Amino acid sequence: MTECRILVFLGAPGAGKGTQTTRLVREFQMKHLSTGEALRQKAGEDTLLGNQARETMERGELVSDDLVAEVVREYMTDFRNSTGFILDGFPRNLAQAELLEEIAGKTPIWVINIRVDEEVVINRLSGRRQCTECGRISNVNFSPPRQEDVCDACGAKLVQRPDDLPDVIQRRLQVYREQTKPLADFYTKKGCYFEVDGNQNADTVFKRISAHLTGEESSAESPNLSADQSVA
Ligand code: AP5
Ligand code: MG
Repeated sequence: MTECRILVFLGAPGAGKGTQTTRLVREFQMKHLSTGEALRQKAGEDTLLGNQARETMERGELVSDDLVAEVVREYMTDFRNSTGFILDGFPRNLAQAELLEEIAGKTPIWVINIRVDEEVVINRLSGRRQCTECGRISNVNFSPPRQEDVCDACGAKLVQRPDDLPDVIQRRLQVYREQTKPLADFYTKKGCYFEVDGNQNADTVFKRISAHLTGEESSAESPNLSADQSVA
């Protein structure tokens, strides 16, 4: 990939946006922004904005568009100086999608929606653990660490995200359905939309996305999901 493009990952909580972004960054040397990670950093600061962000995130709701806009503008200042820029978790509503159009200008936007069944994401999120030092994500339900609560990669402590508790997961899914899901239509109309079946293992999902990006698979695959099961 040589031409600069903006790659947007849509997908419900736990769809695998962070997992696939990490792999793409490694494979294609693209820059990236996870608004969730950036906001968790802000939420760790003992400031008015930090405290507001933390409370909102712990309820599983979206932080204000103004704060998100500030974060996105800060991280995307030099996005054209790379083969591509991946956005994991932005945009999440129509107002944010309009903001992205403005920031992108003539740079093409490619959208990949990772569609996953609701029971799958609940299982994934309830088992997710993140390393407090290196940020590596693991999962006690599928690939438990060799030693309980200890990162296999660096030996630091693994923790559960506060928004991965059952009630908060339900609220995040509801917010996703109401505010983010309509973006699929928005981008379909623009003709830059691709769906991948995220119920498959992470390697298979990655191969599908890579094939799409490199032009080996040009049309959207049709995930074998029923409208009832899928959260996206
Ligand atoms: P954010 O951090 O973006 O959370 P999210 O969208 O809810 O998504 P997750 O990070 O939970 O899931 P993921 O899709 O990255 O999955 P992952 O790869 O980790 O946002 C958090 C909060 O920040 C929001 O609720 C909101 O408050 C705020 N926020 C963020 N952006 C915002 C915005 N633009 N506007 C307003 N507010 C915003 O995978 C999950 C687990 O599954 C892992 O354990 C992983 O190992 C496993 N897994 C992944 N893929 C597979 C696979 N294919 N097979 C098996 N296991 C898999
Ligand atoms: Mg994530």
